[in-house]
Amino acid sequence: MSTPTKYLLQESQMPKFWYNIQADLPQPLPPVLHPGTMQPIGPDDLAPLFPMSLIEQEVTTEREVEIPEPVREVFRLWRPAPLYRAHRLEKVLGTPAKIFYKYEGVSPAGSHKPNSAIPQAFYNAQAGVKRLTTETGAGQWGSSLAMAGQLFGLDVTIYQVRVSYDQKPYRRALMETYGARCVASPSNETEYGRRVLAEHPNHPGSLGIAISEAVEIAAQRDDTKYALGSVLNHVLLHQTIIGLEAMEQMHMADAWPDVLVGCTGGGSNFAGLAFPFIGHGLRGGAKPRIVAVEPAACPSLTRGKYAYDFGDTAHLTPLTKMHTLGSTFTPPGFHAGGLRYHGMAPLVSHVKELGLLEAVAYTQNQCFEAGVTFARAEGIVPAPEANHAVRGAIEEALRCKREGKAETILFNLSGHGHFDMGSYQKYFAGELADQSYDEKELAQALSGLPSVPA
Ligand SMILES: Cc1ncc(COP(=O)(O)O)c(C=O)c1O
Repeated sequence: MSTPTKYLLQESQMPKFWYNIQADLPQPLPPVLHPGTMQPIGPDDLAPLFPMSLIEQEVTTEREVEIPEPVREVFRLWRPAPLYRAHRLEKVLGTPAKIFYKYEGVSPAGSHKPNSAIPQAFYNAQAGVKRLTTETGAGQWGSSLAMAGQLFGLDVTIYQVRVSYDQKPYRRALMETYGARCVASPSNETEYGRRVLAEHPNHPGSLGIAISEAVEIAAQRDDTKYALGSVLNHVLLHQTIIGLEAMEQMHMADAWPDVLVGCTGGGSNFAGLAFPFIGHGLRGGAKPRIVAVEPAACPSLTRGKYAYDFGDTAHLTPLTKMHTLGSTFTPPGFHAGGLRYHGMAPLVSHVKELGLLEAVAYTQNQCFEAGVTFARAEGIVPAPEANHAVRGAIEEALRCKREGKAETILFNLSGHGHFDMGSYQKYFAGELADQSYDEKELAQALSGLPSVPA
């Protein structure tokens, strides 16, 4: 009998709890600091931006957090998500490795982002919030929150990084189809946006600036809160449904990963897949190698400093300890817009400092090349962000070939690229430049890191 290609769980097998890695870490996460007092912040400091239920999830050290039934009910539209064995890719690469991928592109918005957008909208609606503001890069998060807002009766305003807004007009149409308003950032709608535009009228935007705009608006109104698509502990918590399902599916396949691979922008899809496996290892189970893949043009994990920094460019957020390129750093306008963030999730950064994960960086052409190889073997066209994970997985498979090892590789295919075909066209036309960041700008951004007493 041939080995299966897809491993599918029943709706009844969908996890009922998210997994919190904070319960299993050998050292606790460094505290979040108030930039004025440099003292750890309390729940009240975050209350203007988030409902208390999400603030509680941000700080909890409980191992399991229950997924509310109304959230699970929406998740049933596409979850559990399939796990695939990449038989054809293995053959094309001629590798003895077994390659598995968890496919998150089956969600209505096309990526893993609804895994957190749905619970965030649910908890905000439950707290009586009427309106959400957010940032988006490529538009995957924006369209996910737009859909979630519609399902739970919330108005959603999205500040989309200008370069992605111009590159991907159909993502905006999708956000509008779900009933949200999408504004190019920097915009004239906020004080901070106007300040940036006054200095640089053609500014390409960055996630740090878009976050500042969304936070500025949310902080002004009692009925409005802010939602973040990555980085924060509660977002990573929500994404662990990916890894929890994948563990069940690996059991079905009678296999277990030796290597796990994910792409990292703010760290949420990567942590979503990896944290349940890392936790299993910390509790005495098998310890796979964990590989985070980031863009060479925005390499926070491989080139950033592990230091306290702001999460946004206008410095409206608290200080978190993370791998950062500096909050004023503007990455070049490459096509994986969802990976253009100056910082890395504090939890992913901390886990790296504990020596529990490795990080590598690839250029966008290296990643598109891998994405095309994958599409031609497996049929699915990955999002440019997900191409980084594909590249990482292919590198591991080729290493196995060189070393004659039949290892098991599991990677997260975080989204499809159906709205990103313009960047594929550019790749085929040879017009995709491997822009590197400006070393001087990086040095300047890093020299401006806030000084925090030891
Ligand atoms: C398909 C896809 N993968 C990955 C990312 C990166 O985000 P994160 O690191 O939070 O998973 C994004 C962000 O927009 C995305 O759209």
